[in-house]
Amino acid sequence: MKRILVTGSYGQIGTELIGALRERYGGENVVATGRKKPPEILKRDGPYLQLDVLDENQLHAMLVDNDIDIVIHNASILSGTGEKDPQLAYRTNIEGSYNVLEAVRILHLDQVMIPSSIAAFGPNTPKENTPNDVIMRPITAYGISKIFIELWGEYYFRRYGVDFRSLRYPGIISSETLPGGGTTDYAVEIFYEALKNKRYTSFLDKGTYLPMMYMPDCLKCTIDLIEADASILKHRSFNITAMSFAPEEIAAEIMKHIPEFEITYEPDFRQQIAETWPASLDDSAAREEWGWKPDYDLAAMTKDMLEKLSKKLGVKY
Ligand code: SER
Repeated sequence: MKRILVTGSYGQIGTELIGALRERYGGENVVATGRKKPPEILKRDGPYLQLDVLDENQLHAMLVDNDIDIVIHNASILSGTGEKDPQLAYRTNIEGSYNVLEAVRILHLDQVMIPSSIAAFGPNTPKENTPNDVIMRPITAYGISKIFIELWGEYYFRRYGVDFRSLRYPGIISSETLPGGGTTDYAVEIFYEALKNKRYTSFLDKGTYLPMMYMPDCLKCTIDLIEADASILKHRSFNITAMSFAPEEIAAEIMKHIPEFEITYEPDFRQQIAETWPASLDDSAAREEWGWKPDYDLAAMTKDMLEKLSKKLGVKY
């Protein structure tokens, strides 16, 4: 059995990914790490260790001491926070990922997965059905850090044989842990506000289409790419998507379940960020190379989110 270390494990994706990995590979084989005191859920069924990826010595020692084969490096500053503090985004996202790739190279580990994002594209990328291999000139600190990760990872693969893999995650919608500081966060907040207050003020404007995905599909594509046989991969960084919608469309879908729900719009600085990203993605490379296929569309995701979140919040609708 492979031993996996996950960074950023109390983040939106991390918390649920740890659970899914522990179920699949056994609790003891999945080491959850983060800088802060972990939520209870991460201490159940397996180890949690305090790790700052900016501390190379601590990182190397932890990988050796825990006999790690695969690193999933999820620790990252998201797009909105990155624009507020670009230097923090540089340190965490670029230096942190560099340290992880170096550790994997030096220690000859089996594999490293570092997420990329729709933010890796830029304003001169074709917006509709954006291809996997296309011009990418991101103009946000977060986007620049993600393109660094893709290019440095692919360079390490060609030059040193490091088995680097990356998914360009779209906005991820989930009910367990809130995202923090991202541009696609509105698509999660809207569910909390719909259930609690029956109204939501969106920080993205009407007509702002972005690629999106429900958490079960995010966990599925992450595990599928980790497990894909290296010999079938032609790419190392993949577009991945499940749906594309604008704020008024997710609102209309929520109204099918909560008819009195109302949405208003007050775009903030994240509107400019969203406008530099694709509206929809072509993920045919992932579909063809390792059989990617999402399970949830907007209707199925909305129904499941409302059911799960209403239980969690103790609110009926
Ligand atoms: N969800 C991320 C963000 O909005 C995009 O990768 O920053």
